[in-house]
Formats: sequence, structure tokens, C-alpha cells
Amino acid sequence: MKKQLKIFTSFIAVLCLVFTFSTGDGAFAASAIAPITPPQIITDISVINNFGKDPATDRNFTWITSPSNKTGMIQYCPKNEFKNFNSSNIIKVTTTSYKVKTDTDSRMIHKVALSKLKPGTTYIYRVVNKPDIISAQGTFKTAENKLNPFTFIQITDTQGSDEKDYKLWKNTLIKAFEKFPDAKFLVHTGDMVDDGQKIKQWDLFANAVKPELINIPIVPAVGNHDAMNKNGTNSNMKNFTDRFNIAKEIDAESLPVAVYSFDYGNAHIAVLNTESERYDLKKQGEWLSSDMAKTDKQWKIVALHRGPYGAVHESSTIRDELTPVFDKLKIDLVLQGHDHNYVRTYPMKNKTKVKNGQGTVYITANSGGAKFYPTKSRYWQLIDLQPGTQMFVAVTVSDSSLVVNAYDVNNVLIDTTTLKK
Ligand SMILES: [Fe+2]
Repeated sequence: MKKQLKIFTSFIAVLCLVFTFSTGDGAFAASAIAPITPPQIITDISVINNFGKDPATDRNFTWITSPSNKTGMIQYCPKNEFKNFNSSNIIKVTTTSYKVKTDTDSRMIHKVALSKLKPGTTYIYRVVNKPDIISAQGTFKTAENKLNPFTFIQITDTQGSDEKDYKLWKNTLIKAFEKFPDAKFLVHTGDMVDDGQKIKQWDLFANAVKPELINIPIVPAVGNHDAMNKNGTNSNMKNFTDRFNIAKEIDAESLPVAVYSFDYGNAHIAVLNTESERYDLKKQGEWLSSDMAKTDKQWKIVALHRGPYGAVHESSTIRDELTPVFDKLKIDLVLQGHDHNYVRTYPMKNKTKVKNGQGTVYITANSGGAKFYPTKSRYWQLIDLQPGTQMFVAVTVSDSSLVVNAYDVNNVLIDTTTLKK
């Protein structure tokens, strides 16, 4: 009896220990006294969050586990109602999960699409795969219906082959969001990895920024390296589409993957896929025409990887197919990657330099990773720079202006321009 009492006393003593664990939002102390539940294991997994069709009401998530986790769920509720994840007000949504075979292993992809969220609301969430995986706690905020000014970040070409390379990408992301802590999302204009067929590089890319991307929505455009191996062959976007959960267009079946659009504030933003066949570019141009025709937003922005007006690379096919469409649609700003230079063009129309407000400005955001190319002079460039340092671009959208600020990771303002309406 004495022995049983001793065991019971020890058990209570253990339960009374106050334990502390860390979450994505900072230190959080929890007492084990009440309720009497075992401490939960926080698993250090990468959770990617993407916009759904409407950033005000939809949000999509992806995470990856071993094949033994056949299914999973997301648990969430508005931040101002949050008590803990065992509360009755926590909403639970089960994943759509599927098994994939990569170049090195088998794994389970878990995707969830949340809809009917409240606009302008911060939510707390985590993802769970019973019995052994509980992610860190993340937050996301839906877009407001009111058209407030907002900033978003562009980073591009973070491609690398080892952990050291992807630390540069992490540093670029951290510096961008330190400078613009209220930035609403990240546009990544492609070449996230160097060899898209190697799952190890995708893991390095995602794992480097786990604490950041659980809270920051990423808007991805597919790059040539994401879709192919580093020798430019074996085109396959599977690792890209498995990693992200992008809203599908109504006519998605006839479009290449990773072609989509959304509204945010007073901007309509479309993402194109330049890594598909030439006939697909034509199809994307037709889709973009119908997509942009439906918007009443003040600013029309396109993000893509292989830009029509860059530096080093000759992208005449893209230029021939897409710029007549951009001209016709009066696209204000095109965000590009691929050239590993910082480029800002003159306003361009009919492949000619035109006056401010009469054409489209094209920005190439240098590199957010290890690889830089020397500059190459082109007639469309107002600026072509190679500071040899990772860079990011911040775009601030308001009713009357679109402000583009380009920084390097040492906080040096490399370029600034304002488009006005
Ligand atoms: Fe590229």
C-alpha cells in the first residue's frame, strides 16, 4: 500500500511540473496541473501555406510525412477565440493525402483547402498526423475586404545544392520581413531549387524556412530548374505541385499547372508558367485576357519566372508570345526571375520604350540565393545591376500608386520607383 502511495505521489509530482515549450509565436508556458493531459510532442515539420482562390476567405496548406501517416488534419480557430487545441471551438478538417515516390524515398503528401474563412481575421492553427506528428503553432491572416494599402515581397532564384546555399535564402526571407514586418505575402518567382528532380533540394528549400513559412503565405511561380533537372532535361513539375497547394482555375484542365490569379487589396495578381511548351504560352495569354477582363482592381500585376525583358538570357519566345498580351491588357508591373541580375525596364509597349504610365514596367529581382550572373546591357533596361548580394523587392500597393523598393540583404536600398494612376 505504501509503495502504491509513493508511486501515486510521484505521478502527481510529475504532473505538477510546469513545462515550457516553444511555438512559432514565441515562448508559451503551459501548466500540466489542469487539464491532466500528457505533454504533446511538437514535431519540427515544414508546413507551407498558399492562398486559395480568394485570399479573404480561402487558405491552402501542404505538408509531407512518411508513408505511415496515411491521413492528417488541420486544427484551427480565430486567434481571438483561441484557448487551446483541445477546446471545443477548434475546427478540424481532414486532409486529402496521397503517396508519392521520389528519387530517394516514398512519402505522403497531405493537403487541405480551407474555405469560408472570415475576411481580415487572424487564425491560429497546427497540423496533426496521429499518433506522432503535431506541428508547431502557426498563424495566418485572411485578406481584408476593405481596400487598404499593403506591401508584398518578391524573392527569386534561391536555387542551391546544399544546406549552406539554402541558408542564404532563409537570410533573404528574414531580412525582407524584418524590413517589412507587415508584408502580406511572398511572391517567389521561381528556381526555388537547382535540380527540381532531387527531392533533397526541395526538402532543403522548405526546411530552411520552416518557422517563417508556417506563417507567411507563399505565391509560387514555377522556374525552369524547378521543373527540370539542372541539365535542362527531364521536364517534370511533380515535386513543385506536390510541395504547394495552389488554387485551381476553372479551366485548369486545359492550362499548364501553376497558372492562377487572385485579388489582394486593389491589385489583381496573375502567375504564369513560362516553363511549358510554346502553345501553352498562347493558351496562357488567352486565359490571362479573360482573367484580367473580369477584374475591376486598379493595379494589374503578373509574376513569372522567365521574363520577356531581362538581361543575360535571350527570352524572345516569351517576349513574342506574352508582351502583346501584356500591352493589350495594360499590365502595370511584371515581376520576373531567371536572369540573376537586378533589372528595371523603361515602361515598355510594342517592344519599345515609352513614357511613364504608357507601358508595362518589368522588374527582375536579382537572386535570393547563391548564384549571380554578370550584367548584360539591353535596350529595354533603365537599370541593370549586379551588387553580388542577395536581394528582395517590396511592392507597396495603394489606390493611387505602386511603389517598388529593391533592397539587398544588408538593408541597402538599391532601387526605388513609383508608378502612379
Ligand atoms: Fe531560371
